[in-house]
Amino acid sequence: MSQIIEQVSGQATGQAAGKLYGIGVGPGDPELLTVKALRRLQAAPVVAYPVSDGGKSLSRSIVAGYLRPKQIEVPLWYPFKLEQSSQPYYDQAAETLAEHLAAGRDVVVLCEGDPFFYGTFMYLFTRLSERFHTEVVPGVSSVMANAAMLGTPLTYRNDLFMVLPGTLSAELLQAKLALADAAVILKLGRNFAKVYAVLEQLNLLDRAKYIERATMPNQRILPIREVDPAAVPYFALISIPSQWQPE
Ligand SMILES: C[S@@+](CC[C@H](N)C(=O)[O-])C[C@H]1O[C@@H](n2cnc3c(N)ncnc32)[C@H](O)[C@@H]1O
Repeated sequence: MSQIIEQVSGQATGQAAGKLYGIGVGPGDPELLTVKALRRLQAAPVVAYPVSDGGKSLSRSIVAGYLRPKQIEVPLWYPFKLEQSSQPYYDQAAETLAEHLAAGRDVVVLCEGDPFFYGTFMYLFTRLSERFHTEVVPGVSSVMANAAMLGTPLTYRNDLFMVLPGTLSAELLQAKLALADAAVILKLGRNFAKVYAVLEQLNLLDRAKYIERATMPNQRILPIREVDPAAVPYFALISIPSQWQPE
């Protein structure tokens, strides 16, 4: 289907349409980029990436040393506020990238960690992948980086492993966590105090491990009781590794 549309797009503009690549750039350490992601990144004339309110981009900073001087950079800003819909911004971002693609330029979209794991690339994927040939290059997710940095295996044998966003209500977190043999809780930030109370309730504080900015130069691993709830960054997570003891 996308192949056919690509040809149609090409006919409309008189040239072959460009290809869209969503590439995972890993959790922070530039050496955790895959060889394929690096190859795709360096070959693309256009590189797009999400930026924060201050105009900074974590995904761009991860690959900064790999960018080529003549690449066109497209920063994408989305409001992450409950009172403001992000949809018009995703629409606008998709149209900006569609112009490059229709003009025959390949576009790489950078995604921290993995693009299909809670990544904003998905909003571009749903808007563009039927119009343009699209490829996703998986990345090293924060979940995997976390276990490696802690030096703690997450799951064994038939463990039930859960990924939970810290944005869930305390009731839901508690109900879900009670079912898991091992778990990771993402999106901590302002949700830390709530998550901490749930872990305390379930008697999990001794098993829970806290890490912020995993694999980045300013990575910190702290005993969970020593974490200042007011200072928890967005790029932080808690894991509850399996209790199973290998023989
Ligand atoms: C929107 S999700 C994106 C996940 C990402 N696509 C991935 O594959 O890891 C953002 C959440 O992932 C977690 N996260 C991402 N990178 C991290 C890192 N380097 N260290 C700790 N947590 C991280 C944090 O919990 C953060 O709030």
